[in-house]
Amino acid sequence: MKKLIAGNWKMNGSQAMTQDLLGEINSGLNGALLDNCEFLVFPPSLYVPTALKNNGPYMRVGVQDCSVHESGAYTGEIAAPMIKDIGCSHVLLGHSERRQYHGESDETVCDKAKAAYVQDLVAVICVGETESQREEGKAFDVVGEQIAKAVPETATADNTVIAYEPVWAIGTGKTASADDVAEMHSFIREKLAERFSDSENFYILYGGSMKPENAAELLNTPNVNGGLIGGASLKADQFLAIAKAAT
Ligand code: 13P
Repeated sequence: MKKLIAGNWKMNGSQAMTQDLLGEINSGLNGALLDNCEFLVFPPSLYVPTALKNNGPYMRVGVQDCSVHESGAYTGEIAAPMIKDIGCSHVLLGHSERRQYHGESDETVCDKAKAAYVQDLVAVICVGETESQREEGKAFDVVGEQIAKAVPETATADNTVIAYEPVWAIGTGKTASADDVAEMHSFIREKLAERFSDSENFYILYGGSMKPENAAELLNTPNVNGGLIGGASLKADQFLAIAKAAT
C-alpha cells in the first residue's frame, strides 16, 4: 500500500500561489516518491480550476466540502456532480473546522458522503476528538461514534478514506504521540472491520501538525496509511519533505 500524502490548503492562497506551489511540488515528484506515495490536494474551491491546470500527472485534486443536494436553491453550496464535472476525484468531508464553525453533524457528513459516492468521488471523512474529550477519557467513544454515524453503510476501501485528526493537534504544533496514534488507528481499523469486509484496505490518514520533523515517525506507525497536512502543505519543500519521510 502506497502512502497517501494529502494537503488541505483550507482558506489560503491565490491563483498565483496555486500555480507556483503545484509547479514546485510537481518538479520535486521523482521516482522514489512516486514509487512510495500518492498525492492529493484540496485547494479552496475557487482555485480548483487553476489547480487542475497545474496539477501535473501525479497530483489529484479534491474539494474541501460538498452539498448533500444534487442541485437547486442552495446559495453558496457546491454539489457533488459539479465536483465530478470539473474533474476532481476526491471530496473532504466532516473536517473539524466544518463541524465547529458550520455545525456539521455526523448525519450530515454521512449524507454528503452518499452524495459523493453517487458521482464516484472518493470521500475523505475526518474524525477526531477535542482536547477536553481526550482529557475526560472519551477519545475512543467519540471517534467510535463518528465512524459509526458519519461513514455510510455503502462505504468501501475504494470510495472512502478516513482521516484521524485530533482537534487539539490541528494548527497547534502539538502532535499526538506515535503510541496514541497507533492505538487510535488500530481502533478505527477494528471499527471498520465490524462493518466492512474490505476494512484492511481502507486508507486511514493521520492529520494534525504533521511536519517534516515528525512525519517519518507518524507515517511509519502501524495502520497509518498517509497524512492529511494543513500548514505544511502550503510550502513545497515541507510537503515534499513529508512525502520523503514516508519512503
Ligand atoms: P495542520 O497540519 O495545520 O495542523 O492542519 C491539519 C489539518 O487540519 C488538515 O486537514
